[in-house]
Amino acid sequence: MGKRVFAKRMDDLGTETAFLVLARAKELEAEGREIIHLEIGEPDFDTPDNIKEAAVRALKEGYTHYGPSAGLPQAREAFAEYVAKNRGVDTSPDQIVITPGAKPIMFFTMLALVDPGDEVIYPNPGFPIYESMINYVGGKPVPIPLEEEKGFSFDLDKFKSLVTEKTKLCIINSPQNPTGGVLSREILEGIAEAAMENGFYVLSDEVYSKIIYEEKHESIYTIPGMPERTIMIEGHSKTYAMTGWRLGFGVIPENIAPDIAKLQTNSNSCTCSFTQMAGIEAVRGPQHATKAMVEEFRVRRDLIVEGLNKIPGFRCHLPLGSFYVFPNIQGTKRGSKELETMLMEEAGVAVLSGTSFGAFGEGYIRLSYANSQDNIRRALEKIAKVLG
Ligand SMILES: Cc1ncc(COP(=O)(O)O)c(C=O)c1O
Repeated sequence: MGKRVFAKRMDDLGTETAFLVLARAKELEAEGREIIHLEIGEPDFDTPDNIKEAAVRALKEGYTHYGPSAGLPQAREAFAEYVAKNRGVDTSPDQIVITPGAKPIMFFTMLALVDPGDEVIYPNPGFPIYESMINYVGGKPVPIPLEEEKGFSFDLDKFKSLVTEKTKLCIINSPQNPTGGVLSREILEGIAEAAMENGFYVLSDEVYSKIIYEEKHESIYTIPGMPERTIMIEGHSKTYAMTGWRLGFGVIPENIAPDIAKLQTNSNSCTCSFTQMAGIEAVRGPQHATKAMVEEFRVRRDLIVEGLNKIPGFRCHLPLGSFYVFPNIQGTKRGSKELETMLMEEAGVAVLSGTSFGAFGEGYIRLSYANSQDNIRRALEKIAKVLG
């Protein structure tokens, strides 16, 4: 008998089904069908010119070499300054580790902190990579259900009942993908109290911190005692429409940051040097492009929520952040995956089944409004037609 090809741990690796849906959409487009893309997880805006120009300048100045694994010192300083300004908490450049996109911080944190058998609490429905990574490193995934009636937040008593002496890490994400929900100060304080009492760490994914509509962004990092036990994920992908540049960073307790940088030495070596230089311009330069983008997202959010609520069988909560809506579709009497397929094949609208984000996503679908108002209107008409 031949040797097994894959290591056993590969059985535990999940994926982002958004990429599979995109592939099917491309197949249909190749056959000449028109597909409206509401499955996308990135701003449809271009990176602002001042940021592109900074990258070109950096290339010409020779930022074409390897840099330190934790990031260029000037970029670590600029990002620490950005965090201090936006969260109102003193932050040292030694706490910053810069990575190619924010995603590696998730993986590195779990590799560094989670032993096989350790429990990790994470939001469900939530970004699918959380569950995938917990399983991959041999941790025990402990889902906390996000509840539509609570604006896709959760019940604090239920959360506390999930904490055990084996809880090593808790992942939170606010504003949230896929629901658009945000966690209130009260919930964050409850989590912080449990973390300090039980000695677990918090991985706080705040990549949508600037894409928020009604209230100011609340971060667990601002709660006294929490900078010592929070790994905050921030990045440029969403805030500055820089998904393809691959630039993100972690804000990490100083006793942990060097080991996260060591994981980077063992994998990517470092983040692209001229991208980091462009990232400095992003955080220190004018911020009006981000503000204009968020204002446009707000108009689209209102448009899509109003339209979805008129479709029989849909019930759509008004999201407070990110650029996704997560309507309840139980009234259509169809399952989430079935509706995803039907909308793609019959209506020509690409959306994601709620189950792409975990088992508790059944009964919902995710639509991204990172698309033009015209396309959103046309998609709503097409969805209404096939369900009518
Ligand atoms: C909740 C959440 N965290 C992290 C990421 C990863 O972003 P990046 O492009 O910075 O790796 C995404 C991307 O979709 C996301 O939705």
